[in-house]
Amino acid sequence: MLTWLLHWVSAILALFLLLTSLGSAFALLPRPFGSIWMELHLSTGTLLLIITALRIALGTVHGQFAILHGWITRSVALRNFLLILAFATAIVGLLLYQKPPLGKVSYFFVIVPMPTLIRLDHDWHNFAIGFHTGLACLLLVLIILHAAAGIKQKTVTGKVRLSEMIWPW
Ligand code: HEM
Repeated sequence: MLTWLLHWVSAILALFLLLTSLGSAFALLPRPFGSIWMELHLSTGTLLLIITALRIALGTVHGQFAILHGWITRSVALRNFLLILAFATAIVGLLLYQKPPLGKVSYFFVIVPMPTLIRLDHDWHNFAIGFHTGLACLLLVLIILHAAAGIKQKTVTGKVRLSEMIWPW
């Protein structure tokens, strides 16, 4: 039940983050939600980071994080890579945030002011945003591959793996 819940909360958060940021990253759409875009982005991104760290820790304890156990199937490798990539994307996001010298500071969940963890000059800041965006694009590709693997795969009972993941009861 916990695994199921964490999986679908992560999926919703990741899709929300991607759908509300990739359009503006490539100058195709304006950022949605006006002035609260950054607050929403930081808060949902940090929540995804925490849940992903928990999922990696749980997977390691329960032996599902097969990279660390010497055996691997393609779909397990894909899932593990997806978790590591989501973690890396969010960590880079956390590190690149720069508190503006003037203007509005952003808050996590409307309460905690977001700190600048590393002070970056203009060029490094732009590079970090590009890197963060690149990781986000790769994340989208892996999510699509992960969903496709779930549609293709059958469980021992002959059911499609994805439909069992959606409602296992
Ligand atoms: C896996 C989760 C995440 C994804 C997929 C993601 C995706 C993106 C994308 C595509 C952009 C570019 C948007 C644009 O330029 O309009 C962006 C910008 C940004 N993200 Fe994330 N992000 C994630 C997590 C985070 C986290 C956890 C933080 C920090 C706590 C964060 C902080 C930022 C910041 C500071 C920017 C730059 C805004 C700017 O100054 O232009 N992101 N993100």
